[in-house]
Amino acid sequence: MELRDAISSRRSVKIFDHDMHIDDTALYEALKLSTDAPNHGMREPWRIIHVSKDRLGDLSRTVSRYAFRNEPEKQQSHYDAVTKLGGLLVLIVKRDPRQKENLENHLAFGAYAQNLMLLLHEAGIGTCWKTPPYIFMPKVRKVIGVEDDEDLVGFLYLTDMDTKIPPKKPRHTENFISEY
Ligand SMILES: Cc1cc2nc3c(=O)[nH]c(=O)nc-3n(C[C@H](O)[C@H](O)[C@H](O)COP(=O)(O)O)c2cc1C
Repeated sequence: MELRDAISSRRSVKIFDHDMHIDDTALYEALKLSTDAPNHGMREPWRIIHVSKDRLGDLSRTVSRYAFRNEPEKQQSHYDAVTKLGGLLVLIVKRDPRQKENLENHLAFGAYAQNLMLLLHEAGIGTCWKTPPYIFMPKVRKVIGVEDDEDLVGFLYLTDMDTKIPPKKPRHTENFISEY
């Protein structure tokens, strides 16, 4: 796939209406290739936890207990959606006490994530980056194993492509560029 086609045709896959399976070998290859992302000081500030298909239910139950406390319906709908995925990635950034380095780390993570989503797209694996409000809950961070010097920046849902791929939302390609 041409790079420009990959950038243009990648979509966030948001429909999880059937049991999905993905190629974990292709996933791991993409996870490693994506480390060629630019990152200042070679701090390589990314950390990924792979939740394989067979562990999705366990993750959902563990996280939901705190994310949706006393909300059994939400817990169940989270379980029903997440267990259909082909897998899930927990996205973690190394925090830095220095302002500039912390910004660089988070920007580098975004570059890593885009590499990853494009490579997975090319490999026929769909993605959707999810940033639910509970990523900031200390209990959720703890049960997932996020360290004090790390930020939990979301989950990457991994899907097959046998689903309805949403249409591309038009982008504004002109009005954010000006001449100096
Ligand atoms: C950092 C980040 C966080 C996102 N969080 C969510 C989310 O919580 N829920 C969701 O459905 N989509 C989420 N998305 C996906 C966006 O909604 C999606 O990228 C956007 O609608 C554009 O669609 P496209 O990715 O198909 O081009 C997120 C994307 C990014 C980059």
